[in-house]
Amino acid sequence: MDIGYTADHLRTAAATAVRAPSLHNTQPWRFRLRDGGIEVLADPSRRLPATDPSGWGVRVACGAALFNLRIALAVAGVPARVRLRPDPAEPDLLARLVPDIPRRPSPTEQSLHLAIPRRFSNRLPFWPDPVPSDARWRLGDAARAEGCWLELLIGVSAVNAFGEIARSAHRVLERDPAYRAEREQWLRHEPAPDGVPASAGGPQHEPQDVLPGRGFGGRDRAPGRDFEPEPLVGVLGSVGNTAIDQVVAGQALQRVLLTATDVGLAVSLLSQPIEVPTAREQLRVSLGRFGTPQIVLRIGYGQPGRPTPRREVDEVLDLPVVPA
Ligand SMILES: Cc1cc2nc3c(=O)[nH]c(=O)nc-3n(C[C@H](O)[C@H](O)[C@H](O)COP(=O)(O)O)c2cc1C
Repeated sequence: MDIGYTADHLRTAAATAVRAPSLHNTQPWRFRLRDGGIEVLADPSRRLPATDPSGWGVRVACGAALFNLRIALAVAGVPARVRLRPDPAEPDLLARLVPDIPRRPSPTEQSLHLAIPRRFSNRLPFWPDPVPSDARWRLGDAARAEGCWLELLIGVSAVNAFGEIARSAHRVLERDPAYRAEREQWLRHEPAPDGVPASAGGPQHEPQDVLPGRGFGGRDRAPGRDFEPEPLVGVLGSVGNTAIDQVVAGQALQRVLLTATDVGLAVSLLSQPIEVPTAREQLRVSLGRFGTPQIVLRIGYGQPGRPTPRREVDEVLDLPVVPA
């Protein structure tokens, strides 16, 4: 393709990109057309200062949106070549996509594309059915295909050890009034184009639960009962922890989430042990892996749910002004 991307390409692909997950559904991204390239930018006005002081969560979310953008362009027959953080003078510019040689989309790209509108965070308890080994392999392959790793915790003691780290991180975060205020600010009891709908928050978490909830939970549950028998927990990590590594992790996260959706699995995300630096280090050491944990996934077979709202795509586009 010798001409660049058009405003139509941008609008169609961005409408798919915004289906990506983001901390508290803040949707911290912008998309623009420059010299025939589509560019993905972090929107610092949507960073959560208490929950995400370093901007890690913004870059992971933008990486996930970038993955959707790549898939949408590939399926439209205009696949992209991507440069991450192409201009050191503009740190919020996270990626620039230019047209690559046109080709037909692969079957994998097609099935991942179909999964995009079906994916959502499922915070309800999962069924006891174990995740079969071929599905586990596919999730690991999805992370590796994007240059990351996915460590699935095997056995009750590994999950319990992780749960201890996650619950202590949760307690540290809960002591911070600014963190709690941010969560309340983004929890929605009325229809809204962003934030977490109370209906998507899942049940209340209780002290005996192995994994902590974020605290969006509203629905009551029977006292004293376990949340679920034995969740499959996966830690997704990257080789390093630069801004580029975090964007790469976001792409890998989205590929894993879409692969899970494609094979009928439900997922919710946990990042308390990533947000507290000492907990993140404990987690890294406990895994004995080279690299940096970037996010944690709870994976299983879930009850049906529905995708959460997004802002109108025009709100996140910077289109060139056409001279009159
Ligand atoms: C970096 C990152 C961290 C997240 N951390 C959590 C978390 O700790 N707990 C949680 O319930 N959801 C978490 N989420 C999921 C978001 O709340 C969710 O993506 C958002 O509300 C949009 O909903 P959706 O995933 O259903 O589209 C996280 C998402 C991202 C990208």
